[in-house]
Amino acid sequence: MYFARNFSITNLNLTEMNKKLSIVTLLVLSIFFLQCASSKKSMAGFEYTDSVNEIVQGKCYGCHSKDGKSDKAKNALMWDNVPTMTASEQAHIMDEILKVTSERAMPPKGMVERMPDKALTDQEVQVFQKWATDMKKRVSK
Ligand code: HEC
Repeated sequence: MYFARNFSITNLNLTEMNKKLSIVTLLVLSIFFLQCASSKKSMAGFEYTDSVNEIVQGKCYGCHSKDGKSDKAKNALMWDNVPTMTASEQAHIMDEILKVTSERAMPPKGMVERMPDKALTDQEVQVFQKWATDMKKRVSK
């Protein structure tokens, strides 16, 4: 009699304990997933890709960097400064890059006339379009 009662109490306590354990497990798991999600978000910020950097170094950087000769070009875009800009400034630059590359307005006409090999190829335009679209989405989240 005593044994049976004791047994059922133990049994009851166990189910109680299991309930508590699963609540704790759920809590721990959800905190874990939330943290993963938020750290992913902060890690996936604005970034250059190798293929974009390569094109910029060859066809844009001469004007859009601190050693460039035209103040107009430097005021319009300083390539090295974009990663430290605010998200809304980055989104704005992405819009401008989408525009100038799809219209082939950059490098400027004068330069392309003198150096036809500086013109963007179709594939390079695509690289800019894909990257700038991705980055705009990322920083606008
Ligand atoms: C020969 C110098 C030169 C090169 C090379 C050049 N740019 Fe520019 N870029 C300029 C100048 C000058 C301006 C300012 C135009 C203005 O104010 O009308 C400008 C402006 C811009 C702007 C701002 C939008 C605008 O119309 O003002 C973007 C974006 C840009 N350039 C991207 C690029 C990219 C991308 C490349 C390479 C594919 C590139 N540029 C190559 C000279 C250059």
